[in-house]
Amino acid sequence: MDQSFNYIISPEISEFRRFSPKLKIGVLASGNGTNFQELINLSEKGELDIEIKVLITNKKDAGCIKRAENVGIPYKIIIGKDPTKKEVFEKEIINTLIQYDVELIVMAGWMKIVTPFFINKFKNKIINIHPSLLPAYKGGSAIKESLLNGSKITGCSVHFVEEEVDSGYLIMQAALSIQNDDNINTLTKKIQILEHKILPHSISNVGFLIRSNFMESY
Ligand code: GAR
Repeated sequence: MDQSFNYIISPEISEFRRFSPKLKIGVLASGNGTNFQELINLSEKGELDIEIKVLITNKKDAGCIKRAENVGIPYKIIIGKDPTKKEVFEKEIINTLIQYDVELIVMAGWMKIVTPFFINKFKNKIINIHPSLLPAYKGGSAIKESLLNGSKITGCSVHFVEEEVDSGYLIMQAALSIQNDDNINTLTKKIQILEHKILPHSISNVGFLIRSNFMESY
């Protein structure tokens, strides 16, 4: 696919912040894990000073597991199918994140709604990537809905995770125009190219705030 489509990113991308020691992150993912892979790549190349301490997934056959295995990142599969046991499920995730002493939690294709119980444990330390220009198209079918709705512009957003789903303070967004011949596959690919740009930069920006204790005052 032609990767030279036009897009806008805001705020503008600047150089990654440097972290010494590296920023300790925990990744939550349910799917293929291309965003997770991008973080691995940037970390391995020494471009982004992160240490991915642990991957947590809620799907036993998720593609992200293989990606973790390939590079020796510890992972944990925590399945939370029973809605009456959501607290047990979240406690296990919380305990794992505490065990690995993460500073920032990155939801990179995490398709499970988290409760205030979870969010309040890590206030201002959880970010999520979503494939739309929030607040448009919240939920699990954002790309499909943007096409069905005849939107002309869409994109992706990284935001802090707050109680209301796909809400929370926006950290970074990327926008692109939808072409007449775009379909779910082409549009998903274009959006993911942009996701792979804004997620690492959002981590860098938020990491800087965390390290400077800025978030503690909120
Ligand atoms: C990404 O497009 C991400 O925005 C989306 O899942 C995909 C995961 O891709 N997340 C959501 O829809 C959350 N509501 P990946 O597994 O290849 O990184």
